[in-house]
Amino acid sequence: MSREFTRVGVIGLGTMGAGIVEVFARNGIDVVAVDITDEAVERGRSFLAKSTGRALDRGKIDQSEHDTLHGHVTYATDFESLADCQLVVEAVPEHLDLKKEIFAKLDAIVGPDAILATNTSSLPVTEIAASTTSPKRIVGMHFFNPAPVQQFVEVIRTVITADDVFEDVKALAERIDKKPVIVGDKAGFIANALLFGYLNHAVSMFESRYATREDIDASMKLGCGYPMGPLALLDLIGLDTAYEILDTMYKQGRDRLHAPSPIIKQMVSAGLKGRKTGRGFYTYAAAGSPEVVADAQTPAEGIAQGVALREISSVGVVGSGTMATGIIEVFAKAGKSVTFVARSQDKLDGVRAAIEKSQARAVEKGRATQEEADALLGRLHATTDRADLAEVDLVVEAIAEDLEIKQELFSELDKICKPGAILATTTSSLPIIDCARVTSRPQDVVGMHFFNPAQIMKLVEVVHTVSTGDDVIATVQELCREIGKHPVTCGDRSGFIVNALLFPYLNDAIKMLDANYATADDIDTAMKTGCGLPMGPFELLDVVGLDVSLAIERELYIEFREPGYAPAPLLEHLVTAGYLGRKTGRGFRTYA
Ligand SMILES: NC(=O)c1ccc[n+]([C@@H]2O[C@H](COP(=O)([O-])OP(=O)(O)OC[C@H]3O[C@@H](n4cnc5c(N)ncnc54)[C@H](O)[C@@H]3O)[C@@H](O)[C@H]2O)c1
Repeated sequence: MSREFTRVGVIGLGTMGAGIVEVFARNGIDVVAVDITDEAVERGRSFLAKSTGRALDRGKIDQSEHDTLHGHVTYATDFESLADCQLVVEAVPEHLDLKKEIFAKLDAIVGPDAILATNTSSLPVTEIAASTTSPKRIVGMHFFNPAPVQQFVEVIRTVITADDVFEDVKALAERIDKKPVIVGDKAGFIANALLFGYLNHAVSMFESRYATREDIDASMKLGCGYPMGPLALLDLIGLDTAYEILDTMYKQGRDRLHAPSPIIKQMVSAGLKGRKTGRGFYTYAAAGSPEVVADAQTPAEGIAQGVALREISSVGVVGSGTMATGIIEVFAKAGKSVTFVARSQDKLDGVRAAIEKSQARAVEKGRATQEEADALLGRLHATTDRADLAEVDLVVEAIAEDLEIKQELFSELDKICKPGAILATTTSSLPIIDCARVTSRPQDVVGMHFFNPAQIMKLVEVVHTVSTGDDVIATVQELCREIGKHPVTCGDRSGFIVNALLFPYLNDAIKMLDANYATADDIDTAMKTGCGLPMGPFELLDVVGLDVSLAIERELYIEFREPGYAPAPLLEHLVTAGYLGRKTGRGFRTYA
């Protein structure tokens, strides 16, 4: 018969523990909440009070539910108070010795049927279990941050965990409205094993000054729809905890990409542990506050001093595909006169028809008036002759992703365009400097990497080469803002910010699937309900296309020569088999 859980204990009332107490209490379970000192208990109590206070203010719970919830919680500083709990969840700092000591102590205090669970994010649950006299009653119960919000729970089953123990914990997780998945005892389990490589990579981008913290975070929010950027997320997780997780993952897997970026340790040593200490990658209004305040690294508003912007009133777009069409519409909508060039009248007509259709829909939905739509269409000038670009202030090319074809275009634009015109490419993978070097004006060549669909996606990666002029970067940044986009700025290397952070993570997910650690469904669930991502990795890969994903992964691998970026063999096999994702009806999943 399965266990009844009416009274549970939580040890350690920090970032995670306080949230776990709230989850149990909200579901009518009595909770004994334990921390090491009266002061720590008080802090835990105030975390809980703040969180439930917010829920009350937002109308998520009423006053009586609020009071009932708090009525379920008792606080203590001694472990003996946990004697009659049917389950104890440990959420103390991520140190193996500390956890082992706590489990050995608990083992002697709780009843013989009680279950002991650790909320560790990465430490070996098996080793923690081995520190007790009854390792079969030890499981991992890994909640996600913030525990009251994230639905996912990983239930970690060691080789010694008794079947009834993890089944009962799984049933309890379902009872408290979570989505549990049972996984084996491997550092990082599903979600962190995939998340932390990505977070660490973002830190190294920041550390090497490839992009600013604001730009790295904005890229993943606006380019991928993530709820938070990686550096803001690390501040939420806590840099000390993040360091321990990475360190454990590195020691277990020896994957260089998990070796904590040096700056994490430095920040922890300096007390910059993230939100909980009021400073991490960002500065917060107070310790524990989610409110970011300006500091020395906050970018200045407006244009850099001493840089004269170039005037951009007319633009040219070369290309007639999805990206070109979107970009033409975006510029025209922002009031720019747009000359667009395609190889044939047919293609020009196709672009115009697509924009007309999109504008008709905008009018129908009340997003634009008929006058605005007509004016927009009036700003379009179609031509098959590149020479018509002679007078435009900026040209964006969005033609085939082929270096030779792009170089041929750039060398021609160099001859055609007036002096001072900016020449931009939307390439997502080719080195921009290779386009710049075929012109006599490499200082005027820049990357403008729009996201698909360009009309909707706010992000533009503004990519500078070693030759791009400061005034060109500033002008393009300003232009992006003017057309309603959010520019982020980075250097000319494979993947820029978004793809360089995204694709190694997707590749890791494929390797995890191939290693049979978890199913595609469980991995997708983990990333969606544990980390709040809009799509799981396999859903996303099938949408992007496995051939496109493989091409990007190959580029990243060739550029960085990181063994960890080598495309997963399973991805290569699927592409070889012609299973390219949704577009062919089969990828990681099969579609109707
Ligand atoms: N932060 C996250 O996003 C996150 C997410 C999931 C799991 N975890 C895991 O949860 C655990 C706790 O992490 P956290 O971020 O909440 O840490 P934290 O530093 O915010 O909180 C730790 C709490 O444990 C208390 N504590 C320390 N020693 C103790 C002892 N001997 N006995 C009782 N209490 C003690 C501290 O006073 C503090 O209140 C770690 O194992 C971590 O890996 C963290």
